[in-house]
Amino acid sequence: MCGIIGGIGNNIFDDIKQGLYRLEYRGYDSVGISYIFDNKIVVKKRSGNVDDFFNHYSQNVNCNLIIGHTRWATTGIANDINAHPHLSFNSFFSIVHNGIIENYKEIKNELINKGYAFKSDTDSEVIVNLIEKYYLDGNKDVLDCLKKVSSRLIGNFSIALIDLNEPNRLYFYKRKSPLLVGVGKNKNYLASDIYAISTFCEKFIDISDDDYGFITSNEVFIYDGNGLKKIKYCKQNFEYVNNDLCGYKHYMLKEIEEIPNVIQTNIDEYTKENNRYYPHDLLNKINEFDCVIFIGCGSSYNAGKILSRLTDCLNKSSFVFVASEWSNYPKIYGKNPVFVILSQSGETMDDIKCIDILNKKRYPTILLTNNEYSTLAKKSTYVLPIFSKNEVAVASTKTYVAMITVYLLFIFAITKDKTILSNLRSAIEAINDIISRKNEIRNIANKIKDLQSVIFLGRCYDYDICLEASLKLKETAYINSQAIPSGELKHGPIAFVDDSVAIFTFFSDINTFLATLNNVEEVKIRGGNIYNITNKSLKTPNDSFACMDTDLRVCALVKSVFAFYLAYYTAEYKKLPIDKPRNLAKSVTVD
Ligand code: AGP
Repeated sequence: MCGIIGGIGNNIFDDIKQGLYRLEYRGYDSVGISYIFDNKIVVKKRSGNVDDFFNHYSQNVNCNLIIGHTRWATTGIANDINAHPHLSFNSFFSIVHNGIIENYKEIKNELINKGYAFKSDTDSEVIVNLIEKYYLDGNKDVLDCLKKVSSRLIGNFSIALIDLNEPNRLYFYKRKSPLLVGVGKNKNYLASDIYAISTFCEKFIDISDDDYGFITSNEVFIYDGNGLKKIKYCKQNFEYVNNDLCGYKHYMLKEIEEIPNVIQTNIDEYTKENNRYYPHDLLNKINEFDCVIFIGCGSSYNAGKILSRLTDCLNKSSFVFVASEWSNYPKIYGKNPVFVILSQSGETMDDIKCIDILNKKRYPTILLTNNEYSTLAKKSTYVLPIFSKNEVAVASTKTYVAMITVYLLFIFAITKDKTILSNLRSAIEAINDIISRKNEIRNIANKIKDLQSVIFLGRCYDYDICLEASLKLKETAYINSQAIPSGELKHGPIAFVDDSVAIFTFFSDINTFLATLNNVEEVKIRGGNIYNITNKSLKTPNDSFACMDTDLRVCALVKSVFAFYLAYYTAEYKKLPIDKPRNLAKSVTVD
């Protein structure tokens, strides 16, 4: 799961350097570049993030052909040797790779038996050595080698490849992992996504699965099973947003505080006359669908839990699935279902596997995403953008809120229920109130920062908020936490409650208020540290933080902001790398 980039043309280095920073969301445990200098392929690589890399290799490189890579380790631990690019045994080729080769061990053994030696533990080094082997054994045609190699490899892979003997060509192959060509002025590029190269390119070319070929500084050659393909350019209105910290200490904090604006922007965009996001047939067809099935991962799955509850008002049945579960055990409900895929990045491989299954079976899909140009967007029947501008911190905050907002606006478009809009406006007010009182949450974070264990309790929507609160605390503050429906506590989890455990309980629903309060009492008498997160009109004896009253349908928008701050400040007290937590990546592009 990695970001790959390559470029060819005069003074290409700076563009690739910028592109590597923009690709960091796909992994940041090691970085590398490779280029030709003095008739040799040079490889520079090391573990650490892009900043570490360019601080270490601070000199600019003068070259007109270069490949680069940011890694999230899959095969082989994150260290200098396993970092990409990988050089072939005889140093004729270097490669950057995104994907996983399932049969690499078998091929590696074959190559070792034929005299090849390997430096790394990666599957990627197998690809470059296999290419070299075919090259040296055959007619020295790299395109032929790419074809042969692709029929040996099982798995997902996109590669960019430098051939020492052809310094005016940059080769590529694409299977399942994303890759596109960017066309600039006398410079051409390859990249995992449009975002990495958008500011240098005038147009783009999509590469389909099992296409391969090469780019020169002013030409592009793409081949498929039938030979050379006609190039189809697509002009994208991709707007690159220069996303600096604007004085904030971390992106996570900045992005939490952008939430009121994100909700407002979505209200504005989706209530515009004739907005382009609801194709006529979608709003017409929605009544025909009898079941809505939500699919997502991590925070997007947690948002799906809320969306599923919100669907009740459409009188349709609904189900929510973790994408990696659904793709392995696909379940279809209803006679005429629609699938809603939730993915802020639009690049999550677990979701892509689901949409591929759904497309084969011709089920309609609606994608809620922050990237209209993503792989999932290309594969979906309908795309509803979530207008959040780029989210940099690995922990999703504003995009979680934006998904719920956009779905509420979608329900508004269907039902014309104007209370939805007023509820969203009240949510903005309540969130601004939380932002103005963030120091209170900071004080709570100070009290829990050294704990080993935190429990989040709630019912219905409040339970869904717990799932998100627990994920955020684990992800950014490395505190083991659990989300438990409060009624379930007594069925087991209460056994580990003592004075070393903090229990956060969310109260948003008057109907279950007393029952949940009883659960809190059960915990309190067993020594647990109680933090009740309530509404102003739902007072408990131990209120730790009371939010402004809002409608139940928007309570997740409001209380999740409390949870985001709690995770943020706890991680800040612990001096953790908040925007780039260990072992993670912003977008999980392997399954
Ligand atoms: C959330 O804080 C996480 N970084 C993670 O769970 C994320 O939501 C998940 O990987 C799904 O990503 P997506 O929305 O880009 O598909």
